[in-house]
Amino acid sequence: MNLTFTQEQEMMRKMVRDFANAEIAPFIENMEKGEFPREIIRKMGELGLLGIPVPEKYSGAEMDFTSYIIAIHELSKVSATVGVILSVHTSVCTYPILYFGTEEQKKKYVPKLASGEYLGAFCLTEASSGSDAASLKSRAVKKGDHYVINGSKAFITNGGEADVYIVFASTNPEQESKGIAAFIVDKNTPGLVIGKDERKMGLHGSRTVQLTFEDMLVPVENLLGQEGDGFKIAMSNLEVGRIGIATQALGIAEAALEAATAYAKQRQQFGKPIVAQQGIGFKLADMATSVEAAKLLIYRAADLRANGLKCGLESSMAKLFASRTAVEVTTEAIQVFGGYGYTEDYPVERYFRDAKITEIYEGTSEIQRIVVSKHL
Ligand code: CAA
Repeated sequence: MNLTFTQEQEMMRKMVRDFANAEIAPFIENMEKGEFPREIIRKMGELGLLGIPVPEKYSGAEMDFTSYIIAIHELSKVSATVGVILSVHTSVCTYPILYFGTEEQKKKYVPKLASGEYLGAFCLTEASSGSDAASLKSRAVKKGDHYVINGSKAFITNGGEADVYIVFASTNPEQESKGIAAFIVDKNTPGLVIGKDERKMGLHGSRTVQLTFEDMLVPVENLLGQEGDGFKIAMSNLEVGRIGIATQALGIAEAALEAATAYAKQRQQFGKPIVAQQGIGFKLADMATSVEAAKLLIYRAADLRANGLKCGLESSMAKLFASRTAVEVTTEAIQVFGGYGYTEDYPVERYFRDAKITEIYEGTSEIQRIVVSKHL
């Protein structure tokens, strides 16, 4: 694997870093109060960030997968909220249509998703089916030229803001995972009801809602793939999505490490900067080593994906390790800051709150271990 980045990838890193510092950093307080960063997402669309790996034919930037990961990395260092919005939009909404859609579906949806005219969401989880995704209860019944879908979904990232929802429902419950179908659902579809907003520990600018389908009428031409393909569509895109979430975790961890290092260099105790006290210096050394290891796992998984190779094992390893790193590094960053770290005057408490979810969504750490152990 080539561990250096191309000039094009470095340009992407600089462009996104500059954008994040200029446009996102000043909006963090608004997001912390629960405001969705709509204007930021619109500007990201203008810059081509909502369709980085999408072919030009569908209005994308047609850049490689690693460039897309670089963008999530840089955005998440400034705002994990913006990082997850982009990851869910691209990895688990645009990609499923791009890879499993008919030419008509691609032409209808992908250019609008890639340009940012549309925002995307992914609807797999239900109140009683999280890790056991195949046990979902939403039902789709074909009636003439429509499917009638009934059921509900939980913890839908971008829900209520999205224009397009990839919805999973069973057409044949007896077939379990092989009876699941995937549908492209427009936000104005009759019977799609946006429910309660979750009040979360972190990611305050990202919307997470419940959805209900009440005799929701989806035209048959919006079936993605064939009936029964749904579970494979979900799993194969989550495989890619998990690299994005691992990268979000990396961005959070790196931001916490940088903040803690800068603070340790200027904070004086016992007559010298605390970075020169071994207790703190060693802590920072461990944090930096974990961040570097997470980065290598992530860019290795991204490189496999960019070259069209299998990456299921590497993506789960990257998510498992990077999410743990984010939780550990943000915890230690607060420790370096001492009492100040526990206040809202410094960003490390936000990093700490944002980190935890990376061990939960897009497959918990326990699920990643199942995936990894199945590969061994
Ligand atoms: N690609 C393609 N097909 C796959 C696959 C993959 N990565 N993984 C599994 N499959 C296929 C299998 O091959 C199998 O098909 P065959 O029988 O034809 O071989 C079928 O799917 C069923 O596979 P399993 O028997 O392994 O399925 P399972 O029921 O035991 O579940 C699991 C496996 C790994 C536990 C899975 O349920 C899982 O990943 N659960 C976690 C769910 C999850 O990640 N949810 C995230 C929600 S989205 C989100 O969080 C977004 C957000 O907000 C940020």
